[in-house]
Amino acid sequence: MAQDRKHNVEDLHLVDLTKKFGEVAAVDDLTLTIPAGSFFALLGASGCGKTTTLRMVAGLEDPTSGRISIGEKDITSLRAFQRPVNTVFQSYALFPHLDIFENVAFGLRRRKVKNVEPAVNAMLELVELSAMARRKPTQLSGGQQQRVAVARALINEPDVLLLDEPLGALDLKLRRQMQIELKRIQTEVGTTFVHVTHDQEEAMTMADTIAVMNAGRIEQLGDPASIYELPRTVFVANFLGQSNLFAGTRVSTDANMIEVMANGTKFLVPTERNAASGDEIIIGVRPEKITVLDFPDREKVPTGHNTLEGRVVDVSYAGVSTQYLITLPWGQNITVFEQNVVVGDRCNVGDQVVVHWSPEHTFGLAGGETLLVSTAQALAAGV
Ligand SMILES: Nc1ncnc2c1ncn2[C@@H]1O[C@H](COP(=O)(O)OP(=O)(O)OP(=O)(O)O)[C@@H](O)[C@H]1O
Ligand SMILES: [Mg+2]
Repeated sequence: MAQDRKHNVEDLHLVDLTKKFGEVAAVDDLTLTIPAGSFFALLGASGCGKTTTLRMVAGLEDPTSGRISIGEKDITSLRAFQRPVNTVFQSYALFPHLDIFENVAFGLRRRKVKNVEPAVNAMLELVELSAMARRKPTQLSGGQQQRVAVARALINEPDVLLLDEPLGALDLKLRRQMQIELKRIQTEVGTTFVHVTHDQEEAMTMADTIAVMNAGRIEQLGDPASIYELPRTVFVANFLGQSNLFAGTRVSTDANMIEVMANGTKFLVPTERNAASGDEIIIGVRPEKITVLDFPDREKVPTGHNTLEGRVVDVSYAGVSTQYLITLPWGQNITVFEQNVVVGDRCNVGDQVVVHWSPEHTFGLAGGETLLVSTAQALAAGV
């Protein structure tokens, strides 16, 4: 069954999709291709339009404009039940009076399928709940109920499974287990999963491709590692993991490297890692890419590295890593994560230090207004 499905599924296309509620565009001219058979995450802060996007794909909400198609087939005006799409919501919405077997069988019974047993049993096996077939939903844990909801949707063999914060109600440990479980199920069946979440770690661990959404639009799209390593906007740099950002001005450019002055300090960023077209450039670096040295060791900084001096104002030991907060001469703080592989002394609060990182780990973002607007948005979103 899984094999058949893999052959049949085609890409999901959203083209110029817009949804307005009054004057507000909840989804704003969204164009996106979701590759067939991929695990795709829509990641964004509360209110950015994730659920509205899913509801339009599911046929539960009419777009104000734009098109939705699967392969060549335009499904924009199809009714919800006519679409090869199923949805799993955060509230599992299982039928409380039916046992697990009948919950999973529901879609087949409604389509008057005669012998439901083999398909239902296969689904229960897929989600590892065969032993619980005769229990009622209330007799299952949250994670088990969520797996029933997934089985109940997948038994209809949709081309696309939409998951709207499906793990939101689970505690952290169960959430991590279910992330692995859902990923396994997706790999086994090969159905296209579109998974909505505002949890960046969840999106990174599960998805083949992430679309970072902000105010109804896609800010950046790509595989988790490339978005993390090379964010293209301030919003993405702050929303997906943490970043240290310095607003500066271009002083020179050659084929390989751009020189940027920020707060009287010169930074190098590879030309190909710079997303800014103008001369206002925000320099960025992830906290784990930075090395901290005691001030007397400053001659150990490799030639050509971006280098700053500062004073340690906070040290927090977090098991696998130590997190430093370091104040720079112009009052800005930077965050550094150091892996705890070194035996012996760490830096202490009050120490004068030198921090450095390779230009290869530096990224350049468009400067100017964006820094303020996007930072405010990120703060409003609680990230
Ligand atoms: N039926 C509606 N009527 C009016 N405005 C709506 C309606 N549904 C959603 N909105 C607005 O559209 C915007 C996007 O909402 P949506 O539910 O898509 O966000 P979301 O990204 O799913 O957020 P969350 O992470 O909180 O679930 C919000 O500003 C919301 O208030
Ligand atoms: Mg939502």
